[in-house]
Amino acid sequence: MDRSPAIATTHWPALERLREIFLSGQPVRGSYWTCREDLDAYDATLGERIGWKWDAVLEDLGRLGWAPPAGPLVDFGCGSGVASRRILSRWSADLFPEIRLIDKSSLATGFAASRLRGVSPGVRIVEAGSSDVAGIMAGATVLLSHVLGEMVPAARRQLSSALAGAAAVIWVEPGTHADSRGLIAMREELREAFRPVAPCVHASRCGLLEAGQDRHWCHFFANPPVGVLADPDWAAFAAHMGIDLRSVPYSYLVLQRADQPIPGPGDPGERTRVLGTPRIYKGFTRLFCCAEGGVEELELPRRLDESLYKAIKREEAGSLFRLRSEAGRIQAVERVHHTPG
Ligand SMILES: C[S@@+](CC[C@H](N)C(=O)[O-])C[C@H]1O[C@@H](n2cnc3c(N)ncnc32)[C@H](O)[C@@H]1O
Repeated sequence: MDRSPAIATTHWPALERLREIFLSGQPVRGSYWTCREDLDAYDATLGERIGWKWDAVLEDLGRLGWAPPAGPLVDFGCGSGVASRRILSRWSADLFPEIRLIDKSSLATGFAASRLRGVSPGVRIVEAGSSDVAGIMAGATVLLSHVLGEMVPAARRQLSSALAGAAAVIWVEPGTHADSRGLIAMREELREAFRPVAPCVHASRCGLLEAGQDRHWCHFFANPPVGVLADPDWAAFAAHMGIDLRSVPYSYLVLQRADQPIPGPGDPGERTRVLGTPRIYKGFTRLFCCAEGGVEELELPRRLDESLYKAIKREEAGSLFRLRSEAGRIQAVERVHHTPG
């Protein structure tokens, strides 16, 4: 049976050391996992928080009606295996005959493998090592999570050429400017072989790469599950680590092979994705919008759609819309929902 590690004050020293490394934003040489307790501490807290970002991404994919193709999964830079476990909690394990774990730390692949065997005993788990990454990724759905910032440029180049042979890619990173920009650079490199499923609403060059857009980045916010904010263990963790549990920013990128149609209602080219945090004013909101024609800030008058204005204010409107605008003002808008069937 799978046992999730619990939050414990004995974890604080390991977590402080790990968080300092993660916040440095520098490529990491060697491995920072020194023992199984490091992974226990991470999995119960920082890793679980990353799981909330995966939940938000997988929910967005659900709204689009998208699922990864049946076949092997690869979890690159698996750490404690949060990404694979989140995937298995969303889709049937029957889709994935095999999960291949890659990490430069064998402590990490061993930990992730034992947790995965606990949740999905029927799935073949392979600790794949990292010698033939392109071979391991060929034809697989590749999961990547919070790994890009740790990689030196040469390792990023090798990764992008290995990814070119994958069947699909689901990639989640922190919602910082640097991580989002790193992900956008990867998108550009992979754009020939793949078509973006989300968050992108078009397959052309990213609009954030246009002149004058340098200060912007593509990011979103996840919510912690109900109960977390009132939980004394989470409160102690947040206070000790100086983390605001209400704010969980992330960036992501989901790609599929270019020859497959993108699911969801209507033409992806008609959709608009709202990036970052809408700015709320008394009679209108300002939305930073990404569409086929580029990125721009648009004003949504409250009177155009009172209930949408309120939903945006309550952070319940999602980020995907179909809209028409003129001279920076939205004239018509509707949320994009997937209707199954
Ligand atoms: C911050 S942890 C994230 C772990 C997990 N993906 C998650 O989201 O919780 C980054 C992981 O990537 C691994 N890693 C970093 N660079 C790597 C590389 N070049 N090849 C394989 N693994 C790498 C680290 O050892 C570590 O386990």
